[in-house]
Formats: sequence, C-alpha cells, structure tokens
Amino acid sequence: MAKIAPSVLSADFAYLGRDLREMKEAGAKWVHVDVMDGTFVPNFSIGSPVVQCIRDNTDIIMDVHLMIMEPIRYIDKFCDMGADYLTIHVEADTEENTLAALDKIHARGVKAGIVLKPGTPAETAAPYLEKCDMILVMTVEPGFGGQKFMAHMMPKLKKLRAMLDKVNPGCLLEVDGGVDVGTCEICKANGAEVLVAGSAYFKAENKAEFVKIIEA
Ligand code: DX5
Ligand code: ZN
Repeated sequence: MAKIAPSVLSADFAYLGRDLREMKEAGAKWVHVDVMDGTFVPNFSIGSPVVQCIRDNTDIIMDVHLMIMEPIRYIDKFCDMGADYLTIHVEADTEENTLAALDKIHARGVKAGIVLKPGTPAETAAPYLEKCDMILVMTVEPGFGGQKFMAHMMPKLKKLRAMLDKVNPGCLLEVDGGVDVGTCEICKANGAEVLVAGSAYFKAENKAEFVKIIEA
C-alpha cells in the first residue's frame, strides 16, 4: 500500500506542533522535511534547529530531503537529529562522494536514498541502486512548494522500478512535487510507494480523507 509523506514546507511554522499532531491524527505515518541551502536550489527552507524540533514533536517516520551541495558534510548532523530516512541529490556531489555519503548514512543505522531532479535520467541512478533504501523522483524542479506536477516524469519512475526489481526489489520509490488527489493515481500506477504532498495536503479541508485517497 502507498504511503503519504506530508511535507512540512507548506506547514504554518508558527504552529508546527499543531500541524504535526494533525498529521498523525489524519493517519500519516511519514513526514517529509525539506532542507535547502540557497545554493543547490534557489531557496532556503529550514535548518537543524527546526528539524530537531520536528523530531522532538512527532514519532512518525521522519524523511529528510537534503537539497544541499556536498551533503556528505552534514550526514552526521542529520543522523544525530533522528532522521529515519535521509535522501541526497545525485547532482549535489561527485559519484565517489555520493557513494561514500550513502555508506556514512547506513553506518549510522539510518535508511539512505538518492534524489533525481527532473532533468536527471534514470540511468544516473545505476551506480547507487544497491546502496539505496529509497529513490526519490522529483516531479517538479526542487526548491519550492505549489508547482505544477510533471507527468512526463512517469516513464522515468517506471524505468527505475524495473531497474530496482533486478538488483534491489525492496527499495522504495518516492515522488515529490505537485502530488494531489488527481496526480497521485498516475504516480502509484507507475510504481510510486511513498508520495510527498505539501500544498495539496495543507489545503485539504478533510486531511484524514486526503490521506486515505492518496494511500488508496
Ligand atoms: C520542493 C520540495 C517538496 C515540496 C512539495 O522542492 O522538495 O517536498 O514541499 O510541495 P508540493 O506538494 O506543494 O509540490
Ligand atoms: Zn522534498
């Protein structure tokens, strides 16, 4: 069954505790946390004090998406903060450093994954497949919530599922960007198992109902 990971990027940061409680009450088992450095993406989001605050205020699975250059520099920090999944962009460093970063995450007992921007082909993931617990396919350009879903990423999703089935069938596939009650169907049909939803989740009047539809 698919899982929703509501993205706190669209939360009301003045009421983060309330929004996290609501997420759990709505039935979400995961929370997606976007960390941006203003260099890898043209935006800043939240840093370690807020990530720590999220960890201290919820016990659901914390899925931390690092949109930062040379993420290997900060692996220990985010592991210390209690990330359950830590995903890093393949475009953010060399292949050698990305492989080393995945090993470093695993050495800390945390699940590791890579992220592919829309312009990055599925084949780029090949060297990392066996080292990943999850692969995240961006369905918008990373950096901002509320953008339009890129349906043309679906063949890439399908291709990655086929590649993974050969070498690492237990690896999860995640999508992030523009996911709502309409676009979730095509994502699931193409192999997505974890669906990030930011603006659509927070706009939903009935969050429990929204979670049910995304996970159906
Ligand atoms: C964008 C982030 C997303 C963002 C998704 O770079 O990685 O996680 O919160 O927001 P929506 O669901 O509004 O596209
Ligand atoms: Zn994200």
